[in-house]
Amino acid sequence: MIFDRVKPLDAILAAAEKKSLKRSLGGIQLMLFGIGCIIGTGIFVLTAAGAQKAGPGLMLAFAIAGAVCVVAALCYAEIAATVPVSGSAYTYTYATMGEFLAWTVGWALVLEYAIAASAVSVGWSGYFVGSILDETLGVTLPNWLSAGPLALGGAEGGLINLPAMVIALLITGLLIIGTSESAKFNAVLVAIKVTALTAFIALTLTSPAFEAERFNPFLPAGVFGGFGSGLGAVGAAATIFFAYVGFDAVSTAAEETKDPQRNVPLGLVGSLLFCTLFYILVAAGAIGTIGGQPIMGPGGIPFPAGSEELARQCALPAHADALVCSNEALAHVLRQIGWSGVGNVLGVAAFLALPSVILVLLFAQTRIFFVMSRDGLLPEFLSRVHPRWQTPHVVTALTGIVVAVGAAFFPVGQLADIANAGTLYAFAMVAVAVMVLRRRRPDVHRHFRVKGLWFVGPATIAGCLFLFLNLPGEAMVVLPAWTAIGFLVYFLYSRRRSHLGKGIVEVVDAVAGEETAIPIHPPRPRD
Ligand code: ALA
Repeated sequence: MIFDRVKPLDAILAAAEKKSLKRSLGGIQLMLFGIGCIIGTGIFVLTAAGAQKAGPGLMLAFAIAGAVCVVAALCYAEIAATVPVSGSAYTYTYATMGEFLAWTVGWALVLEYAIAASAVSVGWSGYFVGSILDETLGVTLPNWLSAGPLALGGAEGGLINLPAMVIALLITGLLIIGTSESAKFNAVLVAIKVTALTAFIALTLTSPAFEAERFNPFLPAGVFGGFGSGLGAVGAAATIFFAYVGFDAVSTAAEETKDPQRNVPLGLVGSLLFCTLFYILVAAGAIGTIGGQPIMGPGGIPFPAGSEELARQCALPAHADALVCSNEALAHVLRQIGWSGVGNVLGVAAFLALPSVILVLLFAQTRIFFVMSRDGLLPEFLSRVHPRWQTPHVVTALTGIVVAVGAAFFPVGQLADIANAGTLYAFAMVAVAVMVLRRRRPDVHRHFRVKGLWFVGPATIAGCLFLFLNLPGEAMVVLPAWTAIGFLVYFLYSRRRSHLGKGIVEVVDAVAGEETAIPIHPPRPRD
């Protein structure tokens, strides 16, 4: 049977108990951590792609995607407070639904973390090239060096996005030598991001350029553009969902939180609601001042965001100033309404703060690979720890190279959509895992219990499925194609080498931390 290898929950709990980290985090600190992971390329850059899909309905899109994330966050909060070990959705699935499904989740998380890290690198590059090089230093990087082959913004002739590639490799280097973000440093970056967004909201909403008329028509592509079209308010929601990705990292801090029953949901839901409100106000400010109507193609249907046709349209002088064509949407808006200096400062804020989002995503990816390798599902050399730096340098370097290649050649919107596909799958599986665990192990102590799980769980699954179906078709097919490759790897390699399959349960909680190997007797026969 392929669903038979379930990691014994008691072994995981015993290991977590041994580790028992000090409970030092409060609700506000957790919220700051969440906001630090969440605010990034989604709002600073993808606002343009979202407007091309939904027009002013982008505001509704932010609300829809935020609502799906809030219910998913509650599921994450319960499972993280019950099974507090590293590996996130992969480990939760391993302990509830078994190795095979856990493998599919771990495999899909590559899309969430690695591809998302590429997307944020490309977003960062837009601000670096525009606000830092061009506006501040007066250096214009040629298109062939500053954009991948399919980039937006009239950047036809793009060949390689060198800055995006370099930042991804730099962050990889920092992770290899053991850099992690301190809570203080994170708080500073959160302050920078929130100040930049607050200034944006204040300046746009009070600007004389703000006209209510620009919100009309509010839904130029409708609410529902059709499954697979990636259009309409729900199509934009599926893309802009990226702006919320990363909050799941907060759930990993559940075991270090004081009074988790109160603070974990406060931190998770609080940071999401805070960001949702900010995002809607930012969208209102951008659209109200310079307009956010999509560029329409034949038949009054918007050109697909990230498409070559749109790139050609954006190269025309008539569209030079359009929100939907900008690589650095928010700085662009401020420049258009006479606040060039503040626009450049906002660009500097993005330049400073986005690398920390790349760092969190890359870190999460390497730790998932690390845990999968320690479980025997990926080659053992991946989990080698550097003798001096105490980091999993091999897996970090390999992941970093893949992320850098993705960042060098692909446009941000497509990368974000693919990352969303993998993330939505992982979120849905976490909702299933929480419900399975409630049924199978009602006895296990839960530091946090979701009220109304039998509504919240199914709502998460339905929300994720709905957003997934509203992604553009190309992004949607990546998930099954990637999963099919995953099946091959699993059945040709991982299944035979799985430690659990050999009768050993290993629970590893930290790279340089403790490791517990518990043999199960009698060993199961190899199949
Ligand atoms: N939510 C993160 C961002 O928008 C991934 O950059």
